[in-house]
Amino acid sequence: MLELVLAVELIRVLELVLAVELIRVLELVRALELARALELVLAVELIRVLELVRALELVLAVELARVLEFLLVLQLIRAVESVRVLEFVQMLNLIRALELGRMIVMRESMRAEYKTKSETFTEKDLKGKEPFVQFREWFEEACKHPSIIEANSVCLATATNSMSKQVVSKDGIPSARQVLLKGYGPEGFKLFTNYNSRKGQELAENPNAALSFYWEPLKKAVRVEGHVEKLSASESDEYFHSRPILSQIGAVVSEQSKPIVSRDVFIERRAMLLEQYGDGSEQLPRPKHWGGYLVVPEVIEFWQGQTDRLHDRIRFRRPKSGDEPDGVLLHQGDNGWVYERLSP
Ligand SMILES: Cc1cc2nc3c(=O)[nH]c(=O)nc-3n(C[C@H](O)[C@H](O)[C@H](O)COP(=O)(O)O)c2cc1C
Repeated sequence: MLELVLAVELIRVLELVLAVELIRVLELVRALELARALELVLAVELIRVLELVRALELVLAVELARVLEFLLVLQLIRAVESVRVLEFVQMLNLIRALELGRMIVMRESMRAEYKTKSETFTEKDLKGKEPFVQFREWFEEACKHPSIIEANSVCLATATNSMSKQVVSKDGIPSARQVLLKGYGPEGFKLFTNYNSRKGQELAENPNAALSFYWEPLKKAVRVEGHVEKLSASESDEYFHSRPILSQIGAVVSEQSKPIVSRDVFIERRAMLLEQYGDGSEQLPRPKHWGGYLVVPEVIEFWQGQTDRLHDRIRFRRPKSGDEPDGVLLHQGDNGWVYERLSP
């Protein structure tokens, strides 16, 4: 029995020894593995370092080659520099000359969208069968539009006279400038200016004039053709004195359209007039060469833009002798007007 117990104990001790041995063996294996792994890492590191050195060498070699090339190129450039610089300057001058002389072409990005098919302007849309009512409709719409700051800004075209004089230089040359519309009604369109200005002189010589309004956000335009008449002195006085005093003084001191040396020519004169009339106790007399015109219309055209460029154009005009409104091409309007649709 005792022997048996001892044998069992022996077995246990042996087992323990074996277990300890096993652990040691395992530890040894691990240690060996670790050593190998370290070796491997070191080997890899070594390879990397070598690679790096090689790569650096390569870079340096390439750089060196580049520097050499660069130096060679520089030498080459220097060799031909003087010739090239001259040629380059000549080329630049040529390009500049071409640029200056070249017509600037508006690209497709400047192509605006206008009205769609659902917003056409037809004869049925006319507010009346005479142009004044229609003009009022569009003008008021333009005045109310938040993006239109000066709905009354209009281009006025005049021309020198070709009819009455036999002089070659007076051959009906047109000129155009922006002015402000200051009133309108069935009798015509009112504006104010200097009668001695270029436009004033042209109108004195040739009373035919044209106006062109364009209200871009509405894609609407109105063209007027007719003759001008001077407004009465009292009407010109009334409008002149309704203007702010600085505008009145501006009209007095400026010889509109004449060449001057600089702005300074006005300063002294303006200061004197401002001192005398600035407080409003005395009225600044309107210069006789400043006043209004009435453009009496013979033609008024209403244009509305369409995106497909098939724009709407309806033209009112005074009938010519022999005109017979047929209700197809030419329509009878009110107050002595006829109207017709024009091709865009
Ligand atoms: C928006 C605008 C409104 C103008 N309004 C007037 C005007 O009502 N009367 C005027 O004489 N000049 C006006 N001018 C100045 C004219 O365009 C122009 O410079 C001046 O009348 C001289 O033109 P002329 O030398 O052809 O006679 C205006 C200019 C602009 C841009």
